[in-house]
Amino acid sequence: MKTRILKPGEGTSEAIALLESGLPVALPTETVYGLAADASLPNACARIFEAKERPLSDPLIVHLTSIDWLSRIALPSPLALTLAETFWPGPLTIVLPRQASIPDIVTAGQDTVAVRMSAHPVFQEVVQTFGKPLAAPSANRFGRISPTCAANVMSELEGRIALILDGGPCTHGIESTIVHVLEDRLQILRPGPITEDELRAFAPVFHGPAGVAAPGGLKSHYAPRTKLVIEQQPMPRGPRDGLLSWLQSGEGFSQTEFLSRSNDLREAAANLYSAMRRLDEAGLDLIIAEALPESGIGVAIMERLRKAAA
Ligand code: TXA
Ligand code: MG
Repeated sequence: MKTRILKPGEGTSEAIALLESGLPVALPTETVYGLAADASLPNACARIFEAKERPLSDPLIVHLTSIDWLSRIALPSPLALTLAETFWPGPLTIVLPRQASIPDIVTAGQDTVAVRMSAHPVFQEVVQTFGKPLAAPSANRFGRISPTCAANVMSELEGRIALILDGGPCTHGIESTIVHVLEDRLQILRPGPITEDELRAFAPVFHGPAGVAAPGGLKSHYAPRTKLVIEQQPMPRGPRDGLLSWLQSGEGFSQTEFLSRSNDLREAAANLYSAMRRLDEAGLDLIIAEALPESGIGVAIMERLRKAAA
């Protein structure tokens, strides 16, 4: 299959036509690029798993056209509705009891469903014109680094999908925060751009493994092919070591990628995956990632680095 990259406009109508014929397309979101398909069609969703080589035990996030769809897909509590009204459209995924209308392949047969609404204008145009929710995991092969631009999707899925809609680089650069809404508490299943502090304003928050087989919870994920280690004070060990730098100059390293020259954690998150990808493609022996402060979105960045190092 030939994979094309198109800009919004011609690309948008093409994307909608492909979705209508039950095929997956790669779309930009504000977090990372997603591989989207009609969430109501099991066969269309099966093609997502196939293209990504993703195990069927790993459920997909359903991206809604509007908040009105929430109660058609899930059973939102008042707390869940408040979170949706506060943070949508935006980088918060909410895990809720599901409705029967959502196919089992999407939820991996679990009794919960993960939902969000993307804030990306291109994604919004596609999903709203399409008129139905889209199931969309990140547009990478299973276990690999999430793509944050169209070219990254191409290097992950070339020949496996027909179209990548190019909406430019992603603003956040790391995947949405996933929160499981319990009766009176919130369980963060994956840290992300919406921070624990922001969520704590609504209910007590705790971190915990998903009570489900969610490979986002696997220790090794988001992995470059090159070995990666995290150090507080990175020092090169050999002549072909690369540095993923937060504060260090990179002296002595054969290649250095700077996450943020102005020491801004949000900018570091936005650059994380593309910088990791460039180091991974440089033929290095080792990538040494400098530890970042674990505050705000730094929590999510360090979680991704630990998984890349596992
Ligand atoms: O930012 C994002 O969330 C991106 C964009 C494309 O929206 N999507 C994304 O999807 O990161 P994915 O599939 O790569 O990661 C979603 C994670 C997976 O680890 C999956 O196991 C978990 O969400 N998940 C999905 N449904 C779940 C559920 N019902 N309960 C617990 N975890 C769930
Ligand atoms: Mg993913």
